[in-house]
Amino acid sequence: MGIENGLTDYGDPEFAAYLRRAFASSMGFSDEALGRPIVGITWTASDFNNCHRLAPELIDAVKRGVLLEGGLPMVFPTISLGEGFLNPTSMYFRNMLAMETEEIVSGQPMDSVVMIGGCDKTIPGQAMAALSADVPAIMLPVGPMMTGSFEGERLGACTDCRRYWGRYRAGALSRERLALVQQNLAATAGTCPVMGTASTMASIVETLGLALPGSATIPAVAADRLRIAEETGRRAAVLARDGGPSPRDFVTERSVENALRMLLALSGSTNALIHLTAIARRAGVRVDLRRFNELSDETPVIVSLKPTGDGYMEDFHRAGGVRAVLRELADAFDLSTPSIAGGTLGDHLDTTTTWRDHRVIRPVADPVSPTGGLVALFGSLAPTGAILKRAAATPELFERTGRAVVFTSPEDLAERIDDPELDVTADDFLVMQNGGPVASGMPEAGYLPIPKKLLAQGVTDMVRLSDARMSGTAYGTIVLHISPEAALGGPLAKVRTGDLIRLSVRDRILDLLVPEEELAAREPEVRLLSRKSAFATMYRSEVMQAPDGCDFRSAVEDDAATGRPAEA
Ligand code: FES
Ligand code: MG
Repeated sequence: MGIENGLTDYGDPEFAAYLRRAFASSMGFSDEALGRPIVGITWTASDFNNCHRLAPELIDAVKRGVLLEGGLPMVFPTISLGEGFLNPTSMYFRNMLAMETEEIVSGQPMDSVVMIGGCDKTIPGQAMAALSADVPAIMLPVGPMMTGSFEGERLGACTDCRRYWGRYRAGALSRERLALVQQNLAATAGTCPVMGTASTMASIVETLGLALPGSATIPAVAADRLRIAEETGRRAAVLARDGGPSPRDFVTERSVENALRMLLALSGSTNALIHLTAIARRAGVRVDLRRFNELSDETPVIVSLKPTGDGYMEDFHRAGGVRAVLRELADAFDLSTPSIAGGTLGDHLDTTTTWRDHRVIRPVADPVSPTGGLVALFGSLAPTGAILKRAAATPELFERTGRAVVFTSPEDLAERIDDPELDVTADDFLVMQNGGPVASGMPEAGYLPIPKKLLAQGVTDMVRLSDARMSGTAYGTIVLHISPEAALGGPLAKVRTGDLIRLSVRDRILDLLVPEEELAAREPEVRLLSRKSAFATMYRSEVMQAPDGCDFRSAVEDDAATGRPAEA
């Protein structure tokens, strides 16, 4: 324990300890301080991460908590990923964050660690790291933004970004008024205030027991956020002193099933399924998409937040947040799983909310939808699966066969989608290839825009298909994560404009209606990530497909994953 933790295992250990103490002393620590249990705290503030703007304040509060409990807080930097500032896509960096955080947490002398995350890929990457490092850890989300407003309407990134951008593209909003919207979409520090990936993942780590009860939803700017940061610090000091429990004690078959149910009840982000799969897999737990469909059939959506419903995170928090969802669906969840706060999830159910705001968290008897928000599809176009967020889609489009209009890559899509000559009707299925992990790092390019000429006719949704992801804040009848991806020569690579595709959400089917002999004769349309760097080379050969969480093959113990790129 303490500063002599994890000395190098070569040479004279006494000499190594003597040197380490000498360097630690140069920072002004007393011997007494250096003998305390050490709590590492990740510094993830960055001028390229608006969501983490208040992380320094949280760090102060965490340190206070650690000191109150007799530990020594030590702050250290790790990669920070700000969703809006990364190219080719923040997803490309998630595994890098996971690697870097795992190594630096394992390589430095800390008895426990507080991981301060929030923006989109940070919590997933940190949780993956925590499981692999298996050092006692607590996740502390930075918390969601408050909403802004425009002409009497509430605004929240980025569901409303898309809504107003759609109006602008359709000619219904001027550039000048759009500029006013732009300034108020992300009104405070904190993560996007809708049920996007950040909010979903914060709720998931709370459900897994890796974050303190209540910590997913407290607004970033609230005093309660600082109080829970202090409490997180206290708890981390106890973990450091007691030597555990460790992250793997929390992530089990039972807690992962709870987390999947939470994802469904929230109608959370499609991305969260990829991230949860990766997190679970780091603990040796597999997420099976067919089991996910069974859970989806029996788990109602009871939380009404954008993009599925109407509310924002501040409303969800006031209504009791994650603990209130656990309380409402107490029969479905396994409340005997442990919480990092001590005891079980069931010991921390929301009992403080005296007024139940049923506009945001609906009673089970009157859900937003009787079945879960997400569903996995399988078929000849998606042999190992695809995902649809049915709760944020148009049910009239769920059972149909459509003519494919194919774009070979995100670039090809950008070039041609608004071409007035494009041969497309609202009944067609827009298909995009090469948006998968190996082709392009799996950007949020799966939210294919409606062609301008159809927008002008008043079309608001159509079936869109790809191997890419979409933002958790987006909506529409959009089939994502088609696996195997086109770049691995999956059937998606062989779709051509004019082919017929059958979608049946009821039967969970996504079929390409082209005879096999004909497909066999076609050349697959394949692109590979063009970025050139050591990490890009590693990424292309290591990254697995969406049903395996897009983690690196080498990061997981059992290596039976599908989809190794042929050239790797
Ligand atoms: Fe950080 Fe949305 S931009 S969570
Ligand atoms: Mg997002």
